[in-house]
Amino acid sequence: MTSAHSDPPPVTVRVPAKVNLELLVGPLRADGYHSLSTVYHAVSVHDEVTVAFADDWGVTVTGELAAGVPTNGDNLALRAAMLLAAHAGEEDPVHITIRKGIPVAGGMAGGSADAAAALVACEQLYSLGWERDELESMASELGSDVPFLIAGGTAMGSGRGELLAPVLSRGTYHWVFALSEEGMSTPAVYAECDRLRADAVIPEPEPTPALMAALRSGDPRQVAQCLRNDLQPAAISLRPQLGEILQAGLDEGALGGVVSGSGPTVAFLVANAEAGIDLAVALTASGVAADVRRATGPAHGAHVLPVRVD
Ligand code: C5P
Repeated sequence: MTSAHSDPPPVTVRVPAKVNLELLVGPLRADGYHSLSTVYHAVSVHDEVTVAFADDWGVTVTGELAAGVPTNGDNLALRAAMLLAAHAGEEDPVHITIRKGIPVAGGMAGGSADAAAALVACEQLYSLGWERDELESMASELGSDVPFLIAGGTAMGSGRGELLAPVLSRGTYHWVFALSEEGMSTPAVYAECDRLRADAVIPEPEPTPALMAALRSGDPRQVAQCLRNDLQPAAISLRPQLGEILQAGLDEGALGGVVSGSGPTVAFLVANAEAGIDLAVALTASGVAADVRRATGPAHGAHVLPVRVD
């Protein structure tokens, strides 16, 4: 059988990781999610996702970080591609190749990033001509932070994290990420958060004006003072070493530090690129973290790369 789509070349999309500058966790909702008020910030740690027409649906994961990523129907990028094809009435299968640069189960939305990239890539491969907001609404079916990974930049998230609003942010921020050997399960960290707060009355979360003002100022010192993650005590409770990593980074000169999302990656904000190199060297030498990465933010959301001419 000849595919109607035998000709188009593969499409490659680059997608960033994210850190939550503020992650305020509200009460548990009836649907099993927590209401959130968060400020997402995309950073220059990337995955690259390539989609090409193939005989069967499938996914291959490459790179040092590939271990631990499912390559069956649990893979979120594959689910994204199949969801988009079903919505669009397309039947030709695609094979997805993911080059991992984002830590797996690290609290930096690596799986969600791949789903976002797969949507953007397949939309182009199938030549659908959709608007970004059509993709973003499909993205929210796949995960709370998938719409943000399409949008990129710095944005406020509400609902369960999927409802985005723009945030005015100036300047470039320099980050150092301390990575752990082993990932953590997001549902387990939320469950631990509920356990730790079992006796407290939890209000509906609202964004903090001080963080908004700090982002408008472009001053990393001000932003550093506003970093906050309600999941941090739960992540540290499950993995006490994260407390030691946070302390080590602050002792070595970070302006501020916070557990990224549900962890276990710890994000440190530094004054400039040079301070980032110094902190990365110090954290690496201390041996406190399994790996250390530098990055800047805000980064662009999922975007198609020009076709490589080798
Ligand atoms: O939306 P996503 O699939 O990324 O969420 C993964 C898990 O994280 C959910 O199954 C839920 O346990 C937890 N979660 C939550 N509240 C949110 C977002 C995620 O409890 N707002």
